[in-house]
Amino acid sequence: SKPLLIDKYGRQLTYLRLSVTDRCNFRCYYCMPEEGMDFAARKELLSFEEMYQLCSLFCGMGVNKIRITGGEPFVRAGIIPFLRKLSQIPGLEEITVTSNGSLTPKQIVALQEIGIRKINISLDSLDRERFHRITRRDQFDSVYASIFQLLTSGFEVKLNCVVAENKNIQDILPFVELTKEYDLAVRFLEEMPFNGSDSFETPLWSHREIYQHIQAHHPVLEKLQSEPSSTSVNYQVPGYKGTFGIIPSFSRTFCGTCNRIRLGATGELRTCLYGPPATNLRDLIRLGASPTQLEEEILFAVSTREKDGFAAEASYFHAKHESMSVLGG
Ligand code: GTP
Ligand code: 5AD
Ligand code: SF4
Repeated sequence: SKPLLIDKYGRQLTYLRLSVTDRCNFRCYYCMPEEGMDFAARKELLSFEEMYQLCSLFCGMGVNKIRITGGEPFVRAGIIPFLRKLSQIPGLEEITVTSNGSLTPKQIVALQEIGIRKINISLDSLDRERFHRITRRDQFDSVYASIFQLLTSGFEVKLNCVVAENKNIQDILPFVELTKEYDLAVRFLEEMPFNGSDSFETPLWSHREIYQHIQAHHPVLEKLQSEPSSTSVNYQVPGYKGTFGIIPSFSRTFCGTCNRIRLGATGELRTCLYGPPATNLRDLIRLGASPTQLEEEILFAVSTREKDGFAAEASYFHAKHESMSVLGG
């Protein structure tokens, strides 16, 4: 059988994050500027055939989970037939999606038929005006409603809430309260420097401040067991139906167990969210690379994976103005 994706430090990469588009119908301040970005032209995007070919290769090399990200995955036309085809790849145990929730209601039945059961929704505020300020779109009501539609339809739903001073501190405790009645996993994230511009300040609210803030109001918190590769440290207020977690995405306390590899919408392969792409697989495909050549390139990229990509590449990302919608989260 094919070689597995194992780096020099013994970490096996079994989780592929695939960004299917860099476009989005929202403009979250931490992701891209109001005017949008220099989005990729259609022909620059990996075609669905190319994505399928690459995903099949990855699954042959031990990937068993693929998360579909963006941009907003559901703005890409043809995504549903693609997901259906993807779901038939042998060895692929799970497909999950990260979405802003604005377009999900129309897709619920199709997603169920395909067998997608888990979805992560970005939601940074429970207040309509703050939501508007953060996303630059006045769509709180529909996104909020879509969360309950997903829950009622049996999806496992996680909410991602990027925490920032002057933006949504008031929402932290209400989000925790939401888990009293609903079986949701709310995750609070530190902001990362991927907003498509060169302005970024180290977040004032790190995972510690977020935890202390919650603990001040809920002195008894039950710490939950999580997968070793989990990015979030998870808790439950005793008696509540749902859970909450904190993702130290800027502090990166989880690199030692990171099992992720990323394929960007235009074919960039990344073995770490920080740092430049290791290679561009789209270019290789379009130059006529054989499956074996692609595999060799992927294995080589994995063999050069850093122990801590942030430390290795700190100067790179500060200079590069990346956007999360290109990196895929
Ligand atoms: P599941 O655990 O499968 O639910 O997925 P997830 O939490 O990785 O997925 P999601 O798309 O909800 O991502 C949550 C956030 O975690 C990302 O947007 C990033 O902020 C952060 N994150 C994910 N992977 C990494 C990583 O490798 N490094 C860093 N620093 N942050 C990451
Ligand atoms: N910092 C932290 N999280 C971010 N996300 C997007 N951009 C950033 C950023 N700069 C989050 C989104 C989404 C997830 C994939 O990443 O809210 O939920
Ligand atoms: Fe769109 Fe997600 Fe970026 Fe917000 S964070 S602009 S929802 S891709």
